[in-house]
Amino acid sequence: MGRLDGKVALVTGAGRGTGAATARLFAAEGAKVVVADIREDAAASVAAEIGGDAMALGLDVGAEASWKGGVDAVTARFGRIDVLVNNAALLHMAALVDTEVADFERLVRVNQIGVFLGIKTVGAKMKERERGSIVNVASIDGMRAQTGVIAYVSTKWAVRGMTRAAALELGRYGIRVNAVCPEAGSADMVQPYMPEGVDAAAVLPHMQPNLRTQRDRTQADLLGDVAKAILYLASDDAGSCTGTDLLVDGGNLAGRVVKGTPGSE
Ligand SMILES: NC(=O)c1ccc[n+]([C@@H]2O[C@H](COP(=O)([O-])OP(=O)(O)OC[C@H]3O[C@@H](n4cnc5c(N)ncnc54)[C@H](O)[C@@H]3O)[C@@H](O)[C@H]2O)c1
Repeated sequence: MGRLDGKVALVTGAGRGTGAATARLFAAEGAKVVVADIREDAAASVAAEIGGDAMALGLDVGAEASWKGGVDAVTARFGRIDVLVNNAALLHMAALVDTEVADFERLVRVNQIGVFLGIKTVGAKMKERERGSIVNVASIDGMRAQTGVIAYVSTKWAVRGMTRAAALELGRYGIRVNAVCPEAGSADMVQPYMPEGVDAAAVLPHMQPNLRTQRDRTQADLLGDVAKAILYLASDDAGSCTGTDLLVDGGNLAGRVVKGTPGSE
């Protein structure tokens, strides 16, 4: 028995990284998966690798017309959407004073309006059937801030707010809406901002300084944990969870290890 047996699940930004890992896991758990990405070739190759009922979908999450066409295509093939994972997002790194409005707006369009449009378009269909589960991928950057990512941080805090707003409005129709807040993600997203010659996949697992629970774990292990958290919230196992966030951060936000205090060594 798979945890998503018979369910139709659409995952955005599934052409690589967290979205691709989630699509693979969902398929292994019995879902018919729609692998959606603005990069159609990437979506097609992940869908082909999954095989079976997997469907590739070219989708620009920031464009309402793209959502309408995409949802129509999925409904024509599978009849419904039971699970939506709003995972697609962009990163932009720059100091606050160097961040251009155009870059800020680009991130808002994809990371924030993209999630809104997914909830709006797919939520309307779920409402007709009076059931559904939506998981929004926020970030640890939606729970605290970091230097160099003002636009990204603002959109990820917004995703958590929208998660609550949507849960309140859609709950009466049997639709749950939750968020995951991962520390880890795809190295591909961060690689363009790494210094020359530094491999993001090798460095990222060591950027979780507080706890040692992540010691010896690879980037792929960490990303797999994010996919499993998304699976939990998407599935009926999380029947009592809505309007909440699941932090997947290796303990980074638990607090500080203060060197020299009892229990710190
Ligand atoms: N990479 C990290 O370190 C990290 C950490 C915490 C949270 N996250 C979050 O995890 C999620 C997945 O990111 P990832 O780490 O796999 O990054 P990624 O860059 O590897 O994947 C993002 C995917 O989204 C797609 N995409 C971009 N714009 C799109 C659009 N307009 N419409 C549809 N698809 C679009 C890209 O083509 C790409 O395949 C994001 O929400 C991200 O913010 C990432």
